[in-house]
Amino acid sequence: MMRAARHRSALSATHRALARGRALFSTQPIEHQSTAASLVNAHHVPDPWSPPELHEKPNAFERSKVSQEHWSDDWSQADLRAAQHEHVVGTWGPTNAIRDVPMFERGEGVYLYDMDGKQYMDWTSQAICTNLGYSVPPAVIERTTEQLERLPHVYGGLGMVEIRCRLARLMAEIMPGDLNGFLFPSGGAEANEAAVRIARRYTGRTKVINLYRSYHGGTASTLSATGDFRRWFGEEGQSGFVKAFNPTPLNFSWGASPEEAATHALAALEEQILMEGPNNVAAIMLESIIGSGGTIVAPPGYMQGVRALCDKYGIVYIADEVMVGFGRTGKLWGFEHYEGVVPDIVTSAKGLSGAYLPIAVVGMRAPIQQFFEDNPLGWGATYQGHPVTMACAYECIKHMIEHDLIGNAARLERVMIECTARLIERHPSAKRGRAVGLFGCIDLCGPDGKLMQPLAGPPHPAVTPFKRALSDEGIYGFVRPPFLHTAPPLVVSEEELRDGFDRVDRALDTLDEKLGF
Ligand SMILES: Cc1ncc(COP(=O)(O)O)c(C=O)c1O
Repeated sequence: MMRAARHRSALSATHRALARGRALFSTQPIEHQSTAASLVNAHHVPDPWSPPELHEKPNAFERSKVSQEHWSDDWSQADLRAAQHEHVVGTWGPTNAIRDVPMFERGEGVYLYDMDGKQYMDWTSQAICTNLGYSVPPAVIERTTEQLERLPHVYGGLGMVEIRCRLARLMAEIMPGDLNGFLFPSGGAEANEAAVRIARRYTGRTKVINLYRSYHGGTASTLSATGDFRRWFGEEGQSGFVKAFNPTPLNFSWGASPEEAATHALAALEEQILMEGPNNVAAIMLESIIGSGGTIVAPPGYMQGVRALCDKYGIVYIADEVMVGFGRTGKLWGFEHYEGVVPDIVTSAKGLSGAYLPIAVVGMRAPIQQFFEDNPLGWGATYQGHPVTMACAYECIKHMIEHDLIGNAARLERVMIECTARLIERHPSAKRGRAVGLFGCIDLCGPDGKLMQPLAGPPHPAVTPFKRALSDEGIYGFVRPPFLHTAPPLVVSEEELRDGFDRVDRALDTLDEKLGF
């Protein structure tokens, strides 16, 4: 009886709504609607929503969980390894790959010492960054500490500090042409990220052309700009990054001579620009000398041709000097190896502070700098223009200049070439080599004459014993087969360099044997 009354009243409410010209729509769940008529043309009514149940966990900071150990200096090696294995996470490789790496305690000159006191020569300046070695120049310590004590931070988006003005002025003096405007991000990838943003905003175009054999950083955009296998880790990628083939490909040749290869590679690049639509291309971003892809200087005329193509089509030329900038190749900048070439934007990092503190630089030419006088750059970061890192970088550059570290790299190129040639003569696994300044690389090959493995591939079984042999010889560095890099700190002496090559020589016996020569 009561149910029938409720049905009647629901029906009459519907009729009243219809009479007022409203849609036939009930907010009541379907099962409560009483007539077939009210179900016709009815909108879906969602089921009542109940929130998922929270499985509560205690989340308050508990002071008692912080052990007293942290106020003690006496952690044994076993304590440290236990903490590492329980908490430290690896990066490009699986965490297991760094499980047993040396635990370093201190450094001096070009040497590192592990907790057992074993000495290693730093054969690649870590990731081609500890250019000033491990004995930090007193002026660097003094000025960096002084900045830390006096004024540790001013956010660069809000205020100005003396050291930012000084460093920017110094950068303008050591860069060619009208490369006059500077940003100071925290690392190489961040610098390249900013450079791409600048080029896009300045040109109003989107696409960026990079080479396949290249690395530009681990952030989303710079990994998309990267050509080598590391890009595959972020293949969902950013749009607008277009790849061109290097003028020095691995598996084919653009021409019989380096000059012919450069001409053909440039013709292909121009064709590609035309197919992409020149008005869509904001930038061509290139490593001045390919670094982790094997120390490759572009063939004669190539970089000049790229510069000319950029001029022809109004494209911004970005020189990625993150690895080779600040003297690594015996010249202050890698692009100085290409006569007459001045980039529109230059990025660098690593050697800028000898990796003592994280800092990078982006330099831009006057017209670009001018454009951003009135237009927002549209890039920023909390730590850009950090006073303490800038103070460190400022003193490092002055130290490099005063102690002629660039000259040291240029003078030792002769030794690099001589010793690399000796390794190639003595070891069948060392097939070819290259060296520019203190930047060298050897191609490791198997008995079939081919590279022992692709850069992207899983490690060849000979890799682990070879790495162990290097470590036993006291060589620490960046071994990423098929490339064996040679890039000690720029403070290395001739005697130390020759000693390093002798150590590598002995370790290569193991590789020859394991590769089956
Ligand atoms: C040429 C080049 N560009 C960019 C980067 C990225 O620099 P970072 O690791 O400081 O972000 C690297 C790092 O090795 C590099 O070699």
